[in-house]
This record gives sequence, C-alpha cells and structure tokens, in this order.
Amino acid sequence: MTNIDWTQRFSTGANEMRGSALRIIFKETRKPGMISLAGGTPAPAVFPVEDIAAASERAIIQKTIDSLQYGLTEGYTPLREYLAERMNGNGFKIGADQVQITVGSQQAIDIVGRLFLDPGTQVAIEDPTYMSVITAWAPLRPAYLPIKMEEDGLDVDALDAMLKSGVKPAFLYTISAFQNPMGVTISMEKRRRLIEIAAKYGMPIVEDDPYGELVFEGKPMPPLAALDCQMHGELRHVIYMSTFSKLVSPGLRTAWAVGPKEVVAKMTLAKQGMDLHASALSQVIVHEVCVDGLLERHVPLIRQTYKTRRDALLSALEEQMPDGFHWTKPAGGMFVWLTMPDNFDSQKLVRLALDRLVAFVPGFSFYANGGPANTARLSFANPSPEMLHEGVRRLVEAIKAY
Ligand SMILES: Cc1ncc(COP(=O)(O)O)c(C=O)c1O
Repeated sequence: MTNIDWTQRFSTGANEMRGSALRIIFKETRKPGMISLAGGTPAPAVFPVEDIAAASERAIIQKTIDSLQYGLTEGYTPLREYLAERMNGNGFKIGADQVQITVGSQQAIDIVGRLFLDPGTQVAIEDPTYMSVITAWAPLRPAYLPIKMEEDGLDVDALDAMLKSGVKPAFLYTISAFQNPMGVTISMEKRRRLIEIAAKYGMPIVEDDPYGELVFEGKPMPPLAALDCQMHGELRHVIYMSTFSKLVSPGLRTAWAVGPKEVVAKMTLAKQGMDLHASALSQVIVHEVCVDGLLERHVPLIRQTYKTRRDALLSALEEQMPDGFHWTKPAGGMFVWLTMPDNFDSQKLVRLALDRLVAFVPGFSFYANGGPANTARLSFANPSPEMLHEGVRRLVEAIKAY
C-alpha cells in the first residue's frame, strides 16, 4: 500500500489557501461572559424573524416551483427586476439583465477574482481592506498595490499618480461606504474623481457595498456605480455588489452583483460551473419580504439600533481610553478602527484582552501586503450599549496590563 502525499497532489492554488489566523479568536468569543467586539456579524436582535417565517411559508406553498425547483443561473427573475428598479430609484441606469444574484457578496468577490486575475496580475486595493477578499483571491496569487486610507476614503491622489506612472491594475477593489475594517466612507468629491480617473485610464472599479444603506444620519451617498451611470449615461466602469446579509439576514446567503452586460454574462458563465444557481428558496423568500415593503420598514430600525451602539462605543472610548490612542468615528455601518501608540502589538494585546473576556480583531489581518501591528477593528453591532461600555473597560485593563 502506498500513502498519498496530498500536498504534492494539491494544485498550486490549493497550496496557497490559508485558514484565518483569527479562528482562535472567534472560537474564544463563544466563551461564557465574553464581550465580543470582534465579530463582523449583524445583531440577531434585528433579524426580521416573523417576516421571514411568513415569507418562507408563502414561498413554499404558493410559489412551489419557483422556490423548490432548479432555477436560472442569473437568479430569480422577479428578484432581479425588483433590484434593478430599486437601484434605478437610487441613481443607477441598469436593466434587470445586468443583475446577477450570488450566494452572498463573498461569491461575487470569488467570481470577480476568477474573471480578472492570473498569477501576478496587479490589483489596487485599500490598505487595510476586507480580510476575506485576501483569503478568496489567495489561490489566484495576484500582486496587490495597496492604496493608503484617509479619513474620507482611499488616497485618490496616490491612485492617480500610480496610474499616471503607467501601472495598469486589473481593477481597484473598494468598499465605498463604512468600510470594513475602518468604518470610513469615500467623500462625494473623491467619488466623482474616482469615476473620472476610471474613465481616463480605463480602469475598472469593483465596488463592494454591503454597508452603504446603514447610514446613521441623512441619506446614503450615491454609490460609485450610480455616479458612473449618471456621468456616462450607463454603467461603464464599475462592477457593483451588495447583499441582503446586513439588511435582512446573512443566513439566506442572498446578494447581487451589477455590471456592464458583457461582464455580467461572464459572471453568469462562471457561476454556472460553480453551483448552477443560488438557493431558489432563499431568493423567493427575499423577494417576498422585499415586495412586502420589509426594507422600508426594517432598515430604519437597523440604523437606529446600530447608531445607539456606535454612540455607546464612541462615548466609552472617549471616556476611558488612555492618551495616544485614536479611533475613527464612522457615520454608519458596524466598525471602528483603533490605532494605538507605535509600541503596541495588537496580536499580543488580544491575548491579554481575551483573558479579561473582551475580544477584538488585531489589525494585521486586514493588510494585503502586511502592515503596522498597532491597529485593531472594533465592531459595535452585537453588544448592547451597556456591554460596549463594559467591553471598553476590560480593554483598557488589558492595555494597562500590556
Ligand atoms: C466588505 C464585505 N464584503 C463582503 C462581505 C460578505 O458578505 P456576504 O454575507 O454577502 O457574503 C462582507 C461581510 O462581512 C464584507 O464586510
């Protein structure tokens, strides 16, 4: 009998796959009494349980074939039509044939990688960025061009200078509003400039927008994709993705991507080989709750819940944090980004914090090419305001012990 050496058998891409170094932290967040500022998950308190239960029954009993039979790879047509109409109400100019339903935005990220990246392909990326993008694209081995982040979004001048010097990234990946992990949002002025730059250099933009609607004051800013439609009469430069994960429920795994027709057709082809289509049942449920007006009723409640929690976290930080610590003040979303004095290593601090029953995510995992050790992501979405105050108290104890 010969033993198989699996590492030798795996593809180069498979051997590039890495588990998250954060699994240990996420495992520890389940400990009794732990206050977790680590998770990026929505608050279960805002799951619209009754609406989803009623919609599920309607989906199965009244829309049996739509929900229980195989469906189209593009997605459930009424849901695509609903989304196109809703986005057009927000400044897009797209047809339902430009909407691809995906299994979470995570799948749209995976598909975009497969469509555009070969080993060594350059990608402009925010520094720091969403860590699961780095995980998703690792097997494809792209070369990252990190763009510095500022309080009003990525450093557009730096991007412009890079493009001017002749560098041609396959695309820019950006989380335009309430960015994960920093909580910052691209200003209106920078949004316009980004679309101008995309047009000038013919650079595609991949806009990931799971949080844009979770704005705490005023109205959401127009996505880059909407501006592209307005400035060019149609969607030309932006591949846009958003998700029901933060608006309805992540367990339904229903999201959507929008782009120029040629790109969406390729996305559909890629998806066909991956899973034929997203869950038909989930899509019908989501469509049922949407046409029932859930988003109009429910999104204001989510905003209010997270706003109260953001206020609690910011005031706790203000009251308790020692000198030398700085943090972002997000106007929406779920995350605050903490910068510590230079001599702090947040990977070491997190051990002391976990011992004191508070968890956060060390910043290092959000940098595609590595970055400073003294940063951390704090999420305010899950703990109650009282727990956020207590969580910061424990964090400050850990800092003192450090
Ligand atoms: C920036 C960003 N993109 C994509 C996702 C994935 O979302 P989904 O649940 O739709 O796969 C997340 C989830 O936290 C995220 O923060």
